[in-house]
Amino acid sequence: MNNKDIALIGFPGCGKTTIGRILAEKVELPYYDLDFYIEKKHNANINEIFINGEEYFRKIESETLTEIVTEKRIKIISTGGGIVKVHKNMELLRANSIIFFINRPIEQIATDININTRPILSKNPSKMFDMYKERYPLYKKYCHYEIQNNRSINEVLYEILYVLR
Ligand code: S3P
Repeated sequence: MNNKDIALIGFPGCGKTTIGRILAEKVELPYYDLDFYIEKKHNANINEIFINGEEYFRKIESETLTEIVTEKRIKIISTGGGIVKVHKNMELLRANSIIFFINRPIEQIATDININTRPILSKNPSKMFDMYKERYPLYKKYCHYEIQNNRSINEVLYEILYVLR
């Protein structure tokens, strides 16, 4: 598998965590969920961390990403939806991972996303579509592969595994 990590990027609610976890089981690689790792490291949930502002969150997000990426073993990483906002994050990921953009239509995301655990959206739910429009080109720009997630999880996994074969 190229000796690179596999990183999943995409808008909140696109399926990064679910897909990452199952993929890691299938290919028998360690799995890192960046948000979960941040929460454990700082002993606080994402909502609590955001109390100190987005800038503070982005700083610790970048620090934690660097820690995970520089760990030697090959792994699967699910990132937070805003990871693409910081170019340095993406330089690091591009250099060390195969990046998959999990592209789920925003209309589908909007029907079942839990915004309560996502401060960036709960503060401003009406901005979700604008935020999607703003970020979409970044997911496209930084990924190596784009995977459509408007179908079953098995089909999504099949395609990722096909790319990695
Ligand atoms: C964020 C997405 C979240 C989390 C944080 C900020 C964002 O991750 O990192 O709340 O800016 O889009 P998910 O994409 O897993 O929801």
